[in-house]
Amino acid sequence: MKVEKNQIDFENLPTHIAIIMDGNGRWAQKHNKTRTEGHEAGSKTLENLTKEMDTLGIQYVTVYAFSTENWKRPKAEVDFLMGLLRQYLKRHIRQAKRDNIKIRIIGDRSMLAKDIQKQITVLEEITENKTGLGLQIALNYGGRDEIIRSMQKIGKDLLHKKVMVEEINESLFEKYLDTTLIPDPDLLIRTSGEIRLSNFLLWQLAYTELYFCEKYWPDFSMNDLYQAIYHFQQRKRRFGAL
Ligand code: FPP
Repeated sequence: MKVEKNQIDFENLPTHIAIIMDGNGRWAQKHNKTRTEGHEAGSKTLENLTKEMDTLGIQYVTVYAFSTENWKRPKAEVDFLMGLLRQYLKRHIRQAKRDNIKIRIIGDRSMLAKDIQKQITVLEEITENKTGLGLQIALNYGGRDEIIRSMQKIGKDLLHKKVMVEEINESLFEKYLDTTLIPDPDLLIRTSGEIRLSNFLLWQLAYTELYFCEKYWPDFSMNDLYQAIYHFQQRKRRFGAL
């Protein structure tokens, strides 16, 4: 079923969409290309879709770009992904003046190369007051790792008596997560036919509508996005606010 843009109910857009961009490698294989070409194509899809989501009026998008597990891939592939990331950050720093996207990185950035950490800080600072789409890019991210790091921060605050044991509840815990101040996703999209969460936003996805799509990430189009949103809106109608 092909969903067109005019079938979407713009009054009931998901506030926050999370995306597991999966299938770059299989897309490359299918087209007799290298895995790196697959990642390059995936990066273009990300650019096009974030622009479209900003235009549609989606408030937040969180994408899984590099997991804590991805370090185990061949060094050449990791280096290529880090190179793509450098280009991405550089491009967005350069065009930040004309864009209205606010970019934030989630995950443990201390493991990333120093020059990348520096670019991240610059990009976060110069887009901080943007009023368009809030784009979270998960880098060296794992849901369990995020929860452990949050617990370590709470532990430190307990030691320094900034927090009392009795004050620890869900809303306090959320303040220590990487996604602090960002509402939980309403919709998760995973491409490539895999039906798993793969350690993505484990806390935040507790009540999220899950949408799995067969297409590989580089082939995920605007119509596929509209279809995911349409699916979400039909579910919401059936179950009301629950
Ligand atoms: C999963 O495909 C995708 C990734 C591990 C990387 C996602 C990265 C991008 C889409 C582009 C880079 C993004 C930025 C922000 C620069 P896979 O390699 O696991 O595919 P496979 O399961 O088919 O092998």
